[in-house]
Amino acid sequence: MSDHRVVVLPRCHTGQRRILQSSARFKVVACGRRWGKTTVGVVECARWALQGGTVGWFAPTFRMAAEPWRVLRRHLLPASTRVSETDRRMEFFNGGSIEIGSLDNPDAGRGRKFRHIVIDEAAAVRELEIAWYEVLRPTLTDEAGTATLYSTPKGRGAFFGLWQRGESDPEWARFSAPSHENPYLPSGEVEAARGEMPERVFRQEYLAEFGMEEGAVFANVRTAVDAGRVANETYQPAHEYRAGVDLGRARDWTVVAVIRADGKQVAVDRFRGLGWSAIADRVARTLREYQAWAWVDSTGVGDPVVDMLRQRGAAVRPFVFTANSKTRLIEGLAARLERGELNLMDRTEQTEELEGFAYRTRPGGHLRLEGPPGGHDDCVCALALAVYGDRGAAWVA
Ligand SMILES: Nc1ncnc2c1ncn2[C@@H]1O[C@H](COP(=O)(O)OP(=O)(O)OP(=O)(O)O)[C@@H](O)[C@H]1O
Ligand SMILES: [Mg+2]
Repeated sequence: MSDHRVVVLPRCHTGQRRILQSSARFKVVACGRRWGKTTVGVVECARWALQGGTVGWFAPTFRMAAEPWRVLRRHLLPASTRVSETDRRMEFFNGGSIEIGSLDNPDAGRGRKFRHIVIDEAAAVRELEIAWYEVLRPTLTDEAGTATLYSTPKGRGAFFGLWQRGESDPEWARFSAPSHENPYLPSGEVEAARGEMPERVFRQEYLAEFGMEEGAVFANVRTAVDAGRVANETYQPAHEYRAGVDLGRARDWTVVAVIRADGKQVAVDRFRGLGWSAIADRVARTLREYQAWAWVDSTGVGDPVVDMLRQRGAAVRPFVFTANSKTRLIEGLAARLERGELNLMDRTEQTEELEGFAYRTRPGGHLRLEGPPGGHDDCVCALALAVYGDRGAAWVA
């Protein structure tokens, strides 16, 4: 029966083969996004498990374990004798097994023993040093097991420390490569990403550089501001306008930012202390005045306010802030500023908010994008929404 158990593994690209061919016991692989880290990790695990080894795959969170589990299952189902969805565990005909775990709880994995371990997205593991040195490394002692840690760099935290070890320790090896080494990525994908984020983020995420340190998010703020231009400019039919709306809850500010297609900011309306209906009246009036369509921050307030705006003749689309979507939004604005594509009004609150955004190091060495101290970021959010999706991905009301 085993003749029919055909397992087809992905055919590895040159960079992935470098890792499989290395005989180092511990490997640190710092590669760009979409380079193929998870895929080669799956191939590695499959090889060990099909030789009868006990293999552990560890992701930073339970959610991040879902995709590798899917990929593993897809490739290895034909060879499996038992599959447990709840434990995310597969067993094979020759006694080998693969189990997927998450490191949300750094104690996961204690008391086990493995022939091989993969840690995927290692830089995102909250307590990577504890997870590695105290929990996972000891599980490799019994069988002189091996391990590979995959990640895209993220600041200079614990993953960077292991990366350095990859050079100095003879038991270790390290590998690095940019995303575009993956020949299976659609061409142009990486260059497209470059346009959407600040250069230093691109260098980390796609060129896999460890250089990113603390510092301001927005470059060239002062050069982008037209000194002294504080007044709104009236609508001119020759131009096309876009807007972004950050809705203020309770005592927060509501901000509408209007920008011309050529990158010139022409209006800011910033106010607070109104009820939803009055807010909708005022926002809709501005949007109609410039015939601008707008992304509206609908986080928390949901669709009712968006509906109120539509009822008042405004062309709006909701945008929900999550940690990820907000980072992408803010970095999109940073990329536009960095390239000198925007001319901003000289509005003190806006300029100060822009200058207050920074990448700051969290405990554990992770870099995080944070808004200005004190919390107000409504001008920047409105502005970022005004330029969001402004490049070709035009949305028609
Ligand atoms: N050897 C390969 N053969 C075919 N496709 C591949 C191969 N390696 C990677 N890919 C494809 O490239 C894309 C990225 O691969 P993968 O998810 O493994 O990369 P990653 O580095 O883990 O990405 P991320 O940074 O998003 O986690 C996927 O669509 C994957 O199917
Ligand atoms: Mg991956």
